[in-house]
Amino acid sequence: MIKIEHLRKEYPLVTPLKDVSVTVNDGDVISVIGPSGTGKSTFIRCINMLETPTSGNIWVDGECITDKKCNVSKVRRKMGMVFQSFNLFNHMNVIDNVMAAPVDLLKMPKEEAYNEGMRLLRTVGLADKALSFPNELSGGQKQRVAIARTLAMKPDIILFDEPTSALDPTMVGEVQSVIRDLAAQGLTMIIVTHEMRFAREIANRVFYMDDGGIYEEGTPEEIFQNPKREKTIAFIKHINTFSTEINSVDFDFRGLNSGLEEFGRRFGMSQKSIYRVQSAFEELCMQIILPALGDGFKMQLSVAYSQAEERATMRIKYDGEMFNPEDSDNILSLRLAKNAAESIVYEHVPDGDLQNLVTVTIK
Ligand SMILES: Nc1ncnc2c1ncn2[C@@H]1O[C@H](COP(=O)(O)OP(=O)(O)O)[C@@H](O)[C@H]1O
Ligand SMILES: [Mg+2]
Repeated sequence: MIKIEHLRKEYPLVTPLKDVSVTVNDGDVISVIGPSGTGKSTFIRCINMLETPTSGNIWVDGECITDKKCNVSKVRRKMGMVFQSFNLFNHMNVIDNVMAAPVDLLKMPKEEAYNEGMRLLRTVGLADKALSFPNELSGGQKQRVAIARTLAMKPDIILFDEPTSALDPTMVGEVQSVIRDLAAQGLTMIIVTHEMRFAREIANRVFYMDDGGIYEEGTPEEIFQNPKREKTIAFIKHINTFSTEINSVDFDFRGLNSGLEEFGRRFGMSQKSIYRVQSAFEELCMQIILPALGDGFKMQLSVAYSQAEERATMRIKYDGEMFNPEDSDNILSLRLAKNAAESIVYEHVPDGDLQNLVTVTIK
C-alpha cells in the first residue's frame, strides 16, 4: 500500500504538485491521465523518490520513504519503473540486461537469475532474443525487455511513465498487451498514459491530473463516461479537432495521413475508425473532389472526434462551383467512401467563399 499525504513538489518556476493526498491499495491498477505539464511524471517520480518532494510524506507498506532516515534504495527495489525511453544497457545482451540487477543488488546466484530471466523473457514473448543486443531490437521489443528487467527485481509495485509514447503505432499493442497481462496477475501498477482507450480498459481507478494535483479521481466509467468537474469534462468530452488546409493537388498526402493517424491514436480512436477516416478522406477528397476543382482552389479539412460518442465527424469545405460528390462518375470511390462512413451529407452554404460542405460521420 502506498499512502501519500500533502505531497508538494516545487520547481524554481512551477509547482506541479501543490497538495496531493491519496492512497494506492495493493492490486490497484491506476491510470494517470491529464494534459501535459500537469505533474504526472513528477507525481510518479516522487513516489519512488527519483524526485525529492518539497514537503509531505509518502509511506510504502508502512515505511515512511520521505523520512531522512529511510533507506530509499531498499524501498525503491519494491518499486519498478518503466520509462518512455527504455533505458536498457546497450553494451549488454538482453538476458544480461534482465539478470544484472538481481545479481548485483539482490545477490541472486547467476544460474537462478538466468533461469528466472529466461522465464520472464518467455512471458514477454522474447526468449528467442535473449542473446540479441538492444540495438538489434524494435522499440516494442526493447520496451518488453525493459518490462522483463523490471519484473526481475520482483517488485510489488510498477510505475510506468508513458511506456508506449516513444513507439511506432504498430508496436503499441504488443507492449500494452504485456502490461494487461501484468494487471491480470494482480500487480499494483500506476500507469501514466495518453492512450485513452488503454487507460480506460486497464485500470480500476483513474486519476485525472490538473491544477496542481489529482483534480478528479474515479472508476474508468466515472471518469470517462461521467466526469463531474469542469476541467475533467473539458479534457474527456472535449471534442478534439484536427484541421488543415489544402491548396494544391501536390500537398503532402502522406504527411496528412500520418497526422490523422497520430490524431486518432492520441484521442483513443480505434485502429478501425482511424482507417475509416483515412479511407473516407482519400476517396472523397483525393479521388472525387480534388479532381473536380479548378486551379487555385481552396479546401479546408477538419476531423473532430468525440470520445464520449466514439464518433468522428469529418468536414470538407471547398470553393468553386456547386459540386456534390454524390454526382461524381467515380462510382468505385463513392462506394468505398460510403463503406467507410456512417453518413455523407452535402450542403451548399451560400455565404463565405467555401460554399461547398461535405459532412462525413464515421464510427
Ligand atoms: N526537473 C525539473 N526542473 C524544473 N521544472 C521541471 C522539472 N521537471 C518537470 N518540471 C516542470 O514541472 C511541470 C510538470 O512536469 P511533468 O511532471 O513532467 O508533467 P507531465 O508529466 O504531466 O507532462 C512542467 O511545467 C515541467 O516543465
Ligand atoms: Mg510526463
